[in-house]
Amino acid sequence: MTSDQATSLRALAAKGQGNNSDKTTVVKTSVVDNKKIKTLKNVPPKSRARVITITSGKGGVGKTNCSAALAYYLFQKKRKVLLMDFDFGMGNTDLLLGNKEKTNITKLLKGDKDISEAIVKSRYGFEFIKGVRDVRFADLPHHIINRLISGLQKVESSYDDIIIDTGAGAHHVVIQSVMKSDVKLFIIKPEKSSWEDAYQIIKHLRQKGYSKGFQILINMAKNKHIADLTAKNFMLTCEKSLKIQVDYKGYLLQDDKVSDSNQCGEVFLAKYPNSSVSLLFQNAFDGFEKPKKDLRIKNIGYLEALFTGLN
Ligand SMILES: Nc1ncnc2c1ncn2[C@@H]1O[C@H](COP(=O)(O)OP(=O)(O)OP(=O)(O)O)[C@@H](O)[C@H]1O
Ligand SMILES: [Mg+2]
Repeated sequence: MTSDQATSLRALAAKGQGNNSDKTTVVKTSVVDNKKIKTLKNVPPKSRARVITITSGKGGVGKTNCSAALAYYLFQKKRKVLLMDFDFGMGNTDLLLGNKEKTNITKLLKGDKDISEAIVKSRYGFEFIKGVRDVRFADLPHHIINRLISGLQKVESSYDDIIIDTGAGAHHVVIQSVMKSDVKLFIIKPEKSSWEDAYQIIKHLRQKGYSKGFQILINMAKNKHIADLTAKNFMLTCEKSLKIQVDYKGYLLQDDKVSDSNQCGEVFLAKYPNSSVSLLFQNAFDGFEKPKKDLRIKNIGYLEALFTGLN
């Protein structure tokens, strides 16, 4: 092998380790002998996390409870999980997890602190970044969000799953996060207003060209029949009017065990693992720890895409 070939091989191998890694490109463009090509083929591409954004449009439907329960569930299944509270204004994941550490998130938003310093280990073992509980931060400008996201790019490859709990409404942070997620999970209550708010966000995303990865979980239903009916109508409307296939994950019933766990600063799935609401939750997410698509061979990470505006 000539020194030129060695240099180009090193450059290609290095490229394969970055976010733009593409195993196929490396092999196709190499001009080295077969033995070296084989070696390159065996280099695993850099992995990236599956990104799951949990949203709803409407407030108070159970996004934070479901985000925390999902983080707990996936961590129990041996996934490396980062839960991020993307609610800048009324973030409360820390309260729900019972974590009392003082993480000065405002320093992070100002750029005086590195993202890794904001990651805290929850008492359950998975990691999380708390949100902001201060209404002055409720409408963060784009450049601050971008700074936060570029910081997150650095830690993206350390996790299997990044779960983003959004605030209510359709703020640009919510829309951008949902757009660029692998899983766009909408929590819907069996009420017309909840249904309508979720539908409006999906419609908006459809108009922007996004049609994949939509899932719904019906929460606080009185019974299975009402939950299934709500889901069926929602899915049919999305299919007919927006030409979008929405995946129905399952439903949770109205259950005092959830608010009881909140009072104690605990995740309901951890505090009451055998309660009916926990069993329904596990049923809804059964197998979710095994993503169908291997995200490791994707060319671009979620956070990079979010930052650069690419899909
Ligand atoms: N299945 C359930 N049964 C009973 N209460 C529930 C259930 N799910 C959530 N709740 C209660 O609903 C309230 C709102 O829950 P949560 O904070 O998770 O909603 P949210 O969508 O994150 O709200 P926000 O939009 O304000 O961020 C809490 O008091 C919680 O205990
Ligand atoms: Mg919330």
